[in-house]
Amino acid sequence: MIEPAGKPLVVGNWKMNVVESRVPSLVAEIVDRLPFARVDAAVAPAFPCLRAALDAAAGTPLGVGAQTMHWDDSGAFTGEVAPGMLAEMGVRFVILGHSERRTLFGETDDDVARKVAAAFRHGLVPIVCVGETEAERGAGTSHAVIQRQVRAAFSTRGPAGRFPVVAYEPVWAIGTGRTPQPGEITDAHREIQDALTDRFGTEASGIRILYGGSVTAGNAAQLLRAPGVDGALVGGASLLAGTFASIAEAVAPC
Ligand code: PGA
Repeated sequence: MIEPAGKPLVVGNWKMNVVESRVPSLVAEIVDRLPFARVDAAVAPAFPCLRAALDAAAGTPLGVGAQTMHWDDSGAFTGEVAPGMLAEMGVRFVILGHSERRTLFGETDDDVARKVAAAFRHGLVPIVCVGETEAERGAGTSHAVIQRQVRAAFSTRGPAGRFPVVAYEPVWAIGTGRTPQPGEITDAHREIQDALTDRFGTEASGIRILYGGSVTAGNAAQLLRAPGVDGALVGGASLLAGTFASIAEAVAPC
């Protein structure tokens, strides 16, 4: 469900906000409400909730992914989770390079590149997050930052026919209620597309580029129907099935 396709994609990033006991009902509500004929959808719970989410989503079109992982196959990395562990569970995708990982946990462009290569190696679809900080925006370097992050992340191209997903998430828009103008989102997505074309050639047109950062049921139609936007990575507004469904409707109108 998270392969390159004509359909838009919405991904709910639950961060550290959903406990295991809530997972079955939340997954059931999402499965019930989302218009899967018109949109691909997935949720990314915290590691201890992955089994519950996979079980609840089994036999449904809802995908389940992780929020991060290590790049090595195994080893002495206390607290880390290996890509093969996720793949063996049945996890299909993994969010990599989220700005909270980059800024709060020191993840570098090189780390993200290693993780992307590991994801491809293990058959996981990487959802790679890129985006400028407030200071970088102020300095007029947003597009240079985005280009650098995309090029670094895909220094290894991955096996032919395997596609990542990219999420443009301006750091200053995450969890703040502030968003770029639709035209700014389109411009950023064009930068990402150019950088992807350098790496993937013409196949880059099959890579979905999501927007993320303070997407709500109220602003989704305006932000997500901007040219070049193939869906959304949603944080806070994905914690309620109703708002997540409204966002999916906005991204995939009848
Ligand atoms: P938000 O988070 O929708 O709560 O701003 C988005 C994200 O961090 O992916």
